[in-house]
Amino acid sequence: MANAHSRRTPHTAVVGLQWGDEGKGKIVDVLTADHDVIARYNGGANAGHTVEVAGERYALHLIPSGILYPDKTCVIGNGVVVDPEKLIEEMDRLRSRGVAIGARNLLISDRAHVVMPYHKEQDAALEEFLADVAEGERGSLAIGTTRRGIGPAYADKVSRSTAIRVGDLLDDSYLRDRLRVICRLRSAELAALGVRTSPLDPDALADRYSALGEQLRGHIVDSTYALHDALQSGRRILFEGANASLLDIDHGTYPYVTSSNCSTLGIPAGTGVPGDRIGRVLGIMKAYSTRVGAGPFPTELTNPTGERIRERGREFGTTTGRPRRCGWLDLVAVRYSAMVCGATGVACTLFDVLTGFDELRICTKYRLADGSVTDRFIPDAHRLEQATALYETLPGWTEALREVDDRRQLPANAERYLAFIEERLNLPIDMVSVGPDRRHTLQAV
Ligand code: GDP
Ligand code: IMO
Ligand code: MG
Repeated sequence: MANAHSRRTPHTAVVGLQWGDEGKGKIVDVLTADHDVIARYNGGANAGHTVEVAGERYALHLIPSGILYPDKTCVIGNGVVVDPEKLIEEMDRLRSRGVAIGARNLLISDRAHVVMPYHKEQDAALEEFLADVAEGERGSLAIGTTRRGIGPAYADKVSRSTAIRVGDLLDDSYLRDRLRVICRLRSAELAALGVRTSPLDPDALADRYSALGEQLRGHIVDSTYALHDALQSGRRILFEGANASLLDIDHGTYPYVTSSNCSTLGIPAGTGVPGDRIGRVLGIMKAYSTRVGAGPFPTELTNPTGERIRERGREFGTTTGRPRRCGWLDLVAVRYSAMVCGATGVACTLFDVLTGFDELRICTKYRLADGSVTDRFIPDAHRLEQATALYETLPGWTEALREVDDRRQLPANAERYLAFIEERLNLPIDMVSVGPDRRHTLQAV
């Protein structure tokens, strides 16, 4: 039964509308104040979410970005792939900085899948193999993954017979029996790729992963019931997307995507909460575009303007440290993602980075190989590669935005940029972020 408290603020989803690193972590941290439970529904340690509070910078990979508030419950849902070693490292790192993490405020789904060491070996081996085998003019088929074992772990989930779930770590003999079979198969595959000379040792792995399971035991629950219990008692849930809509396995720029449903469409499957419970979908949109790894990027700038954006936005990966590819805002892409996600509003982030450009360009249409023009996105890498971005140009501004604390105080051309986006997306910009810290946030009035 919902109480008055839950009627005021709806259950909310925060989702990236581009290719990741839109500042989801920061916005989740800000919105956590109005919610009780923060749930991750997809991805794994490929995500890197940065939160800055009072000069302290936290990089979160598997733990929801709400963890910095001691009285909130963070949930790692069944749709996430969990690397237990990375998770424990992250918990220890946060604890050493004074963040309280206990069985009460961090819950892990017993049905989340486990990223095993051989998944990371497979991920790296496949990327190396593909990088070495360039296909004609197209170059290599490598995706430029984070090498966190994400693809192979999700592949095992779908394959079923070779998967390990978090709950399995709590049953030593079951785990050991499965690993005996899995290790035989994986050893043969990795040997065939030329990356493993000695076979995997199932007993050593079972010992290690049972011990990790014991360390996590207090946190492991049926998260579907935990979330429904929270709904019943009127607690407000914030769903935190990892990766982003254009990396969604079904709706992104396939095959240059990640292996989960990162759009809001992944929420029901990845948490067990029906989608119609979500009242607010806040799409997070960087004021320009970035992409890490391979794949088409129609507005990419491989020139000094792109470098300037990279430097001003500190566009280097939180997870891998790789320089991010930078370019102008692509509204064809964002309009598509907002449609797929059912966005009810947008948060425009890293807006301060655009200070100091004479003019700013926004892509509103694509020209296709046959000369036709479209305002529809093309969620297929091979066809998107052939599209050329068509731009509209807006005037820039010179004023620094970091200390602005009300949207009405923005320079006229900065406001014009936002109004242009609102008009083209037909959505309100509910939040504007002008710096990495919690306090650098302009909320709709
Ligand atoms: P996420 O993966 O979507 O959570 O985003 P990341 O944390 O990977 O990347 C966003 C980066 O931009 C981080 O370094 C944030 O600290 C930083 N950031 C977030 N919002 C802003 C902003 O409004 N302005 C600036 N300059 N930096 C921001
Ligand atoms: P956050 O949550 C940016 C990209 C990788 C690669 C592709 C597949 O921080 O926004 P994977 O390791 O998932 O198999 O890699 O997806 N990628 C991300 N890029 N931000 C992310 O997460 C990403 N997660 C995956 O760079 O191109
Ligand atoms: Mg990131």
